[in-house]
Amino acid sequence: MDFRFLSASRTGLADVTADALVVIVAGESAEQGLEGPLAQHLKDVLSQRDFVVKAGRTFYLHKPQGVRAPRVVFAAASDASSKAFRSAVGHALTALKNSSAKHVAIALAGSLEMSGDHAEALVAAVTDATYVYRHTKPSALPPGALSKVTLLGEKADTKVVQQGLARGQAIAAGVTLARECANRPGNHCTPTYLAEQAQALARDHGLKVEVLDRKAVEKLGMGSFLAVAKGSDEPLRFIVLRYEGAARNQAPLVLVGKGITFDTGGISIKPSAEMDEMKFDMGGAASVLGTFRAVADLKPKINLVGLIPACENMPDGRAVKPGDVVTSLSGQTIEILNTDAEGRLILCDALSYAERFKPAAVVDIATLTGACVVALGHHRSGLFTADDELADLLLRSGQKAQDPCWRMPLDEEYEEALKSNFADMGNVGGRAGGAITAAMFLRKFTAKYRWAHLDIAGTAWKGGAAKGATGRPVPLLTHFVLSQAR
Ligand code: BES
Ligand code: MN
Ligand code: ZN
Repeated sequence: MDFRFLSASRTGLADVTADALVVIVAGESAEQGLEGPLAQHLKDVLSQRDFVVKAGRTFYLHKPQGVRAPRVVFAAASDASSKAFRSAVGHALTALKNSSAKHVAIALAGSLEMSGDHAEALVAAVTDATYVYRHTKPSALPPGALSKVTLLGEKADTKVVQQGLARGQAIAAGVTLARECANRPGNHCTPTYLAEQAQALARDHGLKVEVLDRKAVEKLGMGSFLAVAKGSDEPLRFIVLRYEGAARNQAPLVLVGKGITFDTGGISIKPSAEMDEMKFDMGGAASVLGTFRAVADLKPKINLVGLIPACENMPDGRAVKPGDVVTSLSGQTIEILNTDAEGRLILCDALSYAERFKPAAVVDIATLTGACVVALGHHRSGLFTADDELADLLLRSGQKAQDPCWRMPLDEEYEEALKSNFADMGNVGGRAGGAITAAMFLRKFTAKYRWAHLDIAGTAWKGGAAKGATGRPVPLLTHFVLSQAR
């Protein structure tokens, strides 16, 4: 997709050459700033109440008189925010879906002003509207012919808008990579495949990568990760990615992504309904890869490490059993009471491994608990941290990126539930507060650094008719990384 910014006055919109002109309108005086034929057309459809300035509404005009573009779409935004703008652009593109328009120009009317955030939101809306998964369904067609988008703005700070477009495009590339990985079925996206993706990313974008196999993981002493991986014939991988954008002595940020490429539950096997969706259980890993993709484009002055423990969770004659006790890399022993609580078992060893980087902060990202979906639904990811400053940064990054999260508690009282008579801890704490006790489990491995956990079980993918990966929380993580750069 080709994105351009053109500083053009609102009064000259009738002369814009494009296959379609989209005019986003917000506020009471919708035609504010428009003049000539477009102002007249908008006035007409408003007065006839064919078009109302209400979120979600659009109106399509074919070859309107006095306008050079052969197609015009008016799309209403509920207010002047970049969030409302993104949604309005999405609706406008739906109105143009299946048209042969290749070049769409997008302009603002009413109370809207173009900012960097608006430009970034535009790219996100266009990417959402045009992404189609084809790897195992090559017959799926892209939803239109769109290949060029021109953003028109007046009084806008060109540099800021250009930066917004660049940020949007880097994030879009990261989101698309994450979606591509996560949408691939479990027989395609294996731990080996994830490692190959990391290697390709490193090769193409100047990153460093190291891939550890079972032998190396055994030598390190990751007994907890190994316990999950041993039920599968598919070989495990432990991926270490590095982006070096700052001086060597600068402490890195570390991102840790859960890479369960299929979660059957293991011996504590899941019911079969919707089990196919457990191919998305590597959404955390995908978001780490996607964030590295975006960061490699944007080149912030920061050091970043990505850790991905990747394996399958399968039932087998050699699989770990309920009641088995394992020793984690930290030395703490774990009684595995439920083999379906496997995410925390692979993450805890990766979190201990993170210590060697003497990190400025560690953020893990995981499709960790069904309980988090019950608590927060599909709009906000769960954020867990005892560090108020880190919480604030991540919450704000999510808001700015339109990829929101919500803080959940971590009081020590919740730790009680993890007590075991046979090990330092059990791996489950019962149904009550399941997302919190999972986070409390991880917390036991993070004493040496500042740490936050994102439970993305409700946000990494969509079910139902629109089943597919979302690429979240790549936008949140990219904004967080950018916010920490000097
Ligand atoms: N990958 C799942 C979490 C999950 C379940 C995400 C459904 C999205 C939808 C995780 O490994 C898991 O199975 N968690 C268990 C934990 C329980 C056994 C304590 C869960 O949430 O049921
Ligand atoms: Mn599980
Ligand atoms: Zn899982």
